[in-house]
Amino acid sequence: MALVLGIESSCDEAAVALVHDGSRVAAEAEASQADDFAAWGGVVPELAARGHIAALPGLIERVLASAGARLEDIAAVAVCAWPGLIGSLLSGVTAGKVIAARLGIPLIAVDHIQAHLGAIHLGRERVAYPLVGLVASGGHSHLYHCSGPGEIQLIGGTIDDAAGEAFDKAAAMLGLGYPGGPAIERCARGGDARALALPRSFRNDDTLRFSFAGVKTALLYRVRGPLGRDALALDERGLRDACASFQLAIVDCLVAKLLLAADLHQVRAIAVGGGVACNTALRSAVEAAARGRGLEAYLPEPRHCADNGAMIASLGYFRWRRGEIADLDLAPLPTGRVGPRARPTSDVRGPTSGQT
Ligand code: KG4
Ligand code: ZN
Repeated sequence: MALVLGIESSCDEAAVALVHDGSRVAAEAEASQADDFAAWGGVVPELAARGHIAALPGLIERVLASAGARLEDIAAVAVCAWPGLIGSLLSGVTAGKVIAARLGIPLIAVDHIQAHLGAIHLGRERVAYPLVGLVASGGHSHLYHCSGPGEIQLIGGTIDDAAGEAFDKAAAMLGLGYPGGPAIERCARGGDARALALPRSFRNDDTLRFSFAGVKTALLYRVRGPLGRDALALDERGLRDACASFQLAIVDCLVAKLLLAADLHQVRAIAVGGGVACNTALRSAVEAAARGRGLEAYLPEPRHCADNGAMIASLGYFRWRRGEIADLDLAPLPTGRVGPRARPTSDVRGPTSGQT
């Protein structure tokens, strides 16, 4: 049994977790700064990085105590190395390096977006591969083909806004605050999702592309009322209808392309991760579509859809198993990278060799 410490610090949340064999969560803890940033209307990078530096040592002590483990019980450290805010990433990567160097254990670099798909292993003994997965978060909307755990290939995505970004911007437009996704979902309850005819870019073509800039602009025009149209009455009913219509337009596009990806890649399983996968309308639509087509659907619990340390530990474990170990001079990157530099396992302990 291999216990992996996962450290996530790519944005405004510092999160750590101890996970056995990529699937069994022993303990997790997090320190979110979302409330602090609500007043700013978004994340302030320098403040986020400083907050993580202050929070991480205490979070690591907390997970060790709650798992009843000692620092020496950790077999490997997985860190979120990209993409993200560089100062935030640096704080988590540095914490991971210190522990790896001090204990002489492997350091594993994990891609944040791909880790959202790694989260499907949490609390699950078996996942049926191959599958196609959607990661819909604040900064990305990616479609992946996964041939096995940690074997992840990008096959499509958005050409402009991410789905979460569209939710956040729409919420700001409607005066609903930040983060926008949960606010839109709450406000959509009881609304008429057919009230506003909103565009669904690329919805019916045969490419694995999303575009959410158009639906956002269309909503703006309806709210402000140019082009000879009346501005939408933003009373309670109008707001509920606008949120429900906007939510449905996005969910429609996400589900359509996920199913198209399953068809094109001839897989029998689909997965969804990322903060937007907390959305109940999206979850229900994915589950219904999977049932209708006889596909297996993997949706992590909502707390593991949002940013968390367990997803980093999980994907880190599988990367380690593939021999992908980072050097201690690992440099985090603000933008994505195809994958961490792989190194043969001959000179490092693998998770199945001698770990208990
Ligand atoms: O994955 P995540 O926690 O952080 C990033 O990696 O970006 O995703 C955050 C995004 C935000 O844009 C937020 O508005 C969106 O996920 N989100 C939601 C919901 N909960 C969070 N979007 C729609 N419905 C939700 N319930
Ligand atoms: Zn994320």
